[in-house]
Amino acid sequence: MTTTITILITGGAGFIGSHVVRHFVNAYPQYKIVNLDLLTYAGNLENLKDVEGAPNYTFVKGDISDVAFLDTLFETHQFDAVIHLAAESHVDRSITDPMAFIRTNIIGTVELLNAARRSWTDFEGKRFYHVSTDEVYGSLGETGYFTEETSYDPRSPYSASKASSDFLVRAYWHTYGMPVVLSNCSNNYGPYQFPEKLIPLIINNIQHDKPLPIYGDGKYTRDWLWVLDHVGAIDVIFHKGKLGETYNIGGNNEWKNIDLVHLLCDAVDARMGRPTGTARQLITFVKDRPGHDRRYAIDSGKLQRELGWEPSMGMEEGLRRTVDWYFDHADWLAHVTSGAYQGYYEHQYKG
Ligand code: NAD
Ligand code: DAU
Repeated sequence: MTTTITILITGGAGFIGSHVVRHFVNAYPQYKIVNLDLLTYAGNLENLKDVEGAPNYTFVKGDISDVAFLDTLFETHQFDAVIHLAAESHVDRSITDPMAFIRTNIIGTVELLNAARRSWTDFEGKRFYHVSTDEVYGSLGETGYFTEETSYDPRSPYSASKASSDFLVRAYWHTYGMPVVLSNCSNNYGPYQFPEKLIPLIINNIQHDKPLPIYGDGKYTRDWLWVLDHVGAIDVIFHKGKLGETYNIGGNNEWKNIDLVHLLCDAVDARMGRPTGTARQLITFVKDRPGHDRRYAIDSGKLQRELGWEPSMGMEEGLRRTVDWYFDHADWLAHVTSGAYQGYYEHQYKG
């Protein structure tokens, strides 16, 4: 696309958001990208050092639930489109502090929709892209996949807040004709992920010779996707997705947690040049996450058939690159873990 447009990306200082911002700034120099982020514990401008001087990039610190601030922002920049990623994103935190999730994920999303609606007197050429999760569909048994037709059955405060936001985005499409598009993605991994999530937490703990907490029996299953494959899907849905539609995004890459952690331990041992099996000795089975969803698996056939997207990264290569990145960015890891952060298990699920 060669047209000049101005896009508001929310949550652009977080894990996925920073990759999305970097991609849009570099791949589309004709677009103006405004990154709005509150810089919570999960947001970090170090994630975007390489683009901070780009002429088509602006960072604004602010809260997606601050109505007056949003109106001024929309008035100043006259956005053509929004890609909305800002959220509280960690399931364990939602169990101990649900209100933060209600405020940002539900109220924040509605305030953003309202601000866009007030600003966009004409919806022609406009687009509000809401980035969501497969967790809205609930939990699968041994077989089956989530499709776009699967009924919502969210079971944690996090997934319930994301499900509410999805419903509200769709309600604005049906009620006001807001030009929306949505996607629901599986578990992402890769560089810049905050080390509260399983993969970077395990890498960080191995580096510090700390126990590797495996919740419950370790046979919970997730479908893992390389974060840049998610960014590729977001690009194609943003540009070609049909308004009013939802697209599932997944890696077709299911792993039981314990098997994934074994693979990761071996990748770290290889990186450290020590015997395979050393890191595995740190594995510790711990009390389960309350309400833990057993299995997620995504059918992304609609996105593949209609928009031609498919994942590109294999798991062993993706994990090797992720391990290398965390070892090569020890400063980043030390910095983001230097504040009040403690692995969640360490103060929540002991006992
Ligand atoms: P993250 O926690 O790494 O980043 C979230 C970002 O949002 C942070 O930079 C934070 O500062 C910002 N933020 C939080 N509250 C805000 C507020 N009130 N106003 C403005 N900014 C605020 O999250 P992530 O893992 O990058 O996830 C991004 C989005 O993708 C979320 O909507 C999440 O639900 C969704 N998602 C994540 C995954 C995954 O595996 N991580 C998978 C599917 C969907
Ligand atoms: O499916 C998409 C979702 O994936 C996103 O919407 C969320 O934002 C993202 O956080 C992620 O949610 P999960 O709860 O699946 O991710 P997490 O990394 O927290 O946990 C992955 C699995 O590993 C899950 O079964 C819980 C387990 N786990 C996690 C941690 C942090 C452990 O066994 N030990 C741990 O210490």
